[in-house]
Amino acid sequence: MHNEFSNLYKSSSIGINKFHPFVKWAGGKTRLTSVIERHVPKNFSNYFEPFLGGGALFFHLKNTRYEMKDFTSYLSDNNPELINAYNIIKNKPQKLIALLREFEKNYYNNPREFYYELRNNKLSDKIFLAARFITLNKTCYNGLYRVNKNGLFNVPLGNYIKPKICDEENLLNINGILKNTKTIIRLGDFENILVKNTKSNDFIYLDPPYDPIDRTSNFTSYTNTGFNIEQQKRLSDLFHILDCKGCKLLLSNSDTETIRELYKDFSNNILKIESIRSINSKPEKRSGHVELLIKNYK
Ligand SMILES: C[S@@+](CC[C@H](N)C(=O)[O-])C[C@H]1O[C@@H](n2cnc3c(N)ncnc32)[C@H](O)[C@@H]1O
Repeated sequence: MHNEFSNLYKSSSIGINKFHPFVKWAGGKTRLTSVIERHVPKNFSNYFEPFLGGGALFFHLKNTRYEMKDFTSYLSDNNPELINAYNIIKNKPQKLIALLREFEKNYYNNPREFYYELRNNKLSDKIFLAARFITLNKTCYNGLYRVNKNGLFNVPLGNYIKPKICDEENLLNINGILKNTKTIIRLGDFENILVKNTKSNDFIYLDPPYDPIDRTSNFTSYTNTGFNIEQQKRLSDLFHILDCKGCKLLLSNSDTETIRELYKDFSNNILKIESIRSINSKPEKRSGHVELLIKNYK
């Protein structure tokens, strides 16, 4: 491990949270990581986060479990723009930062005009796409990611005064983590990745889109494929298969009858935890949600 980096890495052991998500993400777990961490097994072989989003738990573990250097992290999601951004942070951080600086300046000069120009821009260069993705995330309404039927991002401009678009320090810290620890980043569906790569004693944190508590609050379109009841069943079937394989599984979801039924075989290990949801257009609905943590181990 590179010297400068190992110092940075070590300093996280004294309580400085060096790493944090570079995007604001619906269902992001930043506010819950210390609660969730209490349920992360003390030891495991490799780490899997197949519904990566902002990766709050991954970054939290990198802040707190710095002594566990040997595990490989498999980070994946089926959102191509998100995974492209992780790859660019890993491989081309300086070019990304330069472009983000430029976008930040342009945005501050004329937020509305720049936002819609960028949103409509169809350039396909991967560094450009990563910078565009991060900029839109920091400036759009509520940090939402939503695409229309053609896969085009369609969230309107948010209401931020001078948001920090280019967080150079965090991006370089994340670059260090992704480059200098064993981290594999993949675009893809959770099932393929887990079936192909997991072994006994691997730890898998599953944070799928929530099963909606009431059918009107159905915020599940992170990508244009959605995550409906059939997907929840598919995940629950896989949970049972991976349990038989000897993997250690921890799953977050909402407290609904559907979820309790799908995971009734693990009912001795279902815990209720309090969450604050930051992404909800109605402020009164932003706090006080109870959600579930489901484990297959004590
Ligand atoms: C609740 S969010 C995860 C939030 C994350 N834990 C965090 O802290 O930011 C769910 C994620 O699942 C992804 N997703 C949805 N369907 C998927 C699928 N079939 N396979 C893999 N990822 C999927 C979405 O793109 C989204 O990023």
